Amino acid sequence: MELLKSSISKANIILEILDARLPLSSSNPYINKLCRNILKIKILNKNDIADPDITKQWLTYFNDNKDKAIAVTAKEKKDIKKLLGYCNKYIKKKRAQKIKLMVIGIPNTGKSTIINSIAGKKVAKTGNVPAITRHNQRMATKYMDIYDTPGILWPVLEPKLRADIIAASGAISNTAMDYNDTGAFVLDFLLKNYPDYIKKRYKFEALPEKKVHLIEKIGIMRGCLQKGGMVDITRTYEILVNELRRGKLGRVSFEKPDDYFESL
Ligand code: GTP
Repeated sequence: MELLKSSISKANIILEILDARLPLSSSNPYINKLCRNILKIKILNKNDIADPDITKQWLTYFNDNKDKAIAVTAKEKKDIKKLLGYCNKYIKKKRAQKIKLMVIGIPNTGKSTIINSIAGKKVAKTGNVPAITRHNQRMATKYMDIYDTPGILWPVLEPKLRADIIAASGAISNTAMDYNDTGAFVLDFLLKNYPDYIKKRYKFEALPEKKVHLIEKIGIMRGCLQKGGMVDITRTYEILVNELRRGKLGRVSFEKPDDYFESL
């Protein structure tokens, strides 16, 4: 934490990387204490797999509340260009010499991918496993300093809904979650909010009435059978969760700005 504070004190812009599918649950309130008096931009990353209408609502919500926020897909060059244009404008206004950038956020939100896209080469280690990043280093060019090891903040896992959303998104290690719990949460969530995605992905004309029949049918379709022909429900849920995480079911967002007010 001391290392993180020291890097932050040297930066003049903080990029708070949020997951666009869960901008509320992927934030950590401690960041506001850490970043007093430094420009903080909320980056709603993974925009390519988030529900576009809901992302729009979030951007309006943040910008109305005087938080600077933009939505990006980390590997999209045009998004990174827009982000750097935003930083440059601010730096010119402040008459500072160069951008000194620190990237911060909870695990697996895409911090390293964004750093690599900004640097234009692989300087930070990425991966679909939370908390890959460990040591602190700086990458310097004439116009910009980037701390190429991002600051990791731990996710807040209360209340239960928030913990479920975090687990579904992949921000906690798979060994710290239970695929039966997370899978059941994901299935309920999809049935309530995106039932057509399930129909389309698993080629159902109509959804089975009972959830247990639905997950069994998905299991059969994905070849998740145990000895004796019983469906391996845990394995089926694991596949469902991973398809959701990779955006294979469609563009999904777990929370809307209205949920934020409910959670206060
Ligand atoms: P930690 O080391 O856990 O803190 O992770 P991180 O925040 O540095 O995330 P990282 O850059 O390693 O990315 C995590 C996973 O998300 C990887 O599988 C990336 O390929 C993926 N990812 C990052 N950005 C995007 C994005 O904009 N869209 C999509 N679809 N995937 C992304």
